[in-house]
Amino acid sequence: MSTAGDIYQTLDFPEAPTHRPYVYIDMVATIDGKTVSGKRGDDVMDLGSDVDHALMRRIQDQSDAAMVGATTLRAASAMWDPKTGFRIVVSNTGQFDYRRPFFSSGGQAFVACSEASKFEVSNGVRRLESGKDKVDFPLLLSKLREMGARHLLCFGGSELNAQMLSQDLVDELFLTISPKVKLGRDLPTYAGGDPLPREHLLRFNLIENHVVGDDVFVRYRREVRGIHAG
Ligand SMILES: NC(=O)c1ccc[n+]([C@@H]2O[C@H](COP(=O)([O-])OP(=O)(O)OC[C@H]3O[C@@H](n4cnc5c(N)ncnc54)[C@H](OP(=O)(O)O)[C@@H]3O)[C@@H](O)[C@H]2O)c1
Repeated sequence: MSTAGDIYQTLDFPEAPTHRPYVYIDMVATIDGKTVSGKRGDDVMDLGSDVDHALMRRIQDQSDAAMVGATTLRAASAMWDPKTGFRIVVSNTGQFDYRRPFFSSGGQAFVACSEASKFEVSNGVRRLESGKDKVDFPLLLSKLREMGARHLLCFGGSELNAQMLSQDLVDELFLTISPKVKLGRDLPTYAGGDPLPREHLLRFNLIENHVVGDDVFVRYRREVRGIHAG
């Protein structure tokens, strides 16, 4: 059994590649794998424990960029304010209250969107166009790296994670297993999207695991591509 104070104090992330930031996702899920406590689009503050929330902030504090899907940002508390120099929300509609702290509390805030999307931003927020009709993630990440982002924390949700994972753009996965069962056939999990063929499942290595009370905290790192089999 660990104590919360021991966990994720120093994450020792590898250096960022030159063409994109080093990328990791952090999510909390129930034992049956669901990542919402209510409906898709509701906030999930009641899903993780206080320790989970504290560890999420610890991971965030060791990141210089934070990225989130539009539905997740709309669901999150209006006061949510990740303290990273770069804050990016992925969206083609741009429908947000641009006065919320996510956009306005210092650093640089962006809406990552496609060239085809038509919306205006305000309050100093910038559009970061990457891709014709929908966001092209390799292109977006290369732009962020050029701007100086080195370590990018992706907060989900499920649809954003799926696109990042399906293009093999994620280096680490942090998962908290919350001691709860939600049930439901069509609720979001860690990553949704289209399934990968069985011969192309992505393999990760377990690099940390911790138990605090009834919570389990695991950290996986992507196997070095091309070196490990299976
Ligand atoms: N348990 C956890 O740790 C955790 C973490 C995060 C979220 N959640 C929960 O998960 C739910 C949201 O997840 P979700 O999977 O429904 O949504 P999501 O991934 O947060 O956001 C999906 C939205 O992102 C935008 N988007 C995604 N890919 C895009 C692309 N390639 N180009 C342009 N825009 C793109 C679109 O926004 P527009 O419609 O604006 O164009 C799309 O509707 C919420 O209830 C949230 O509370 C749980």
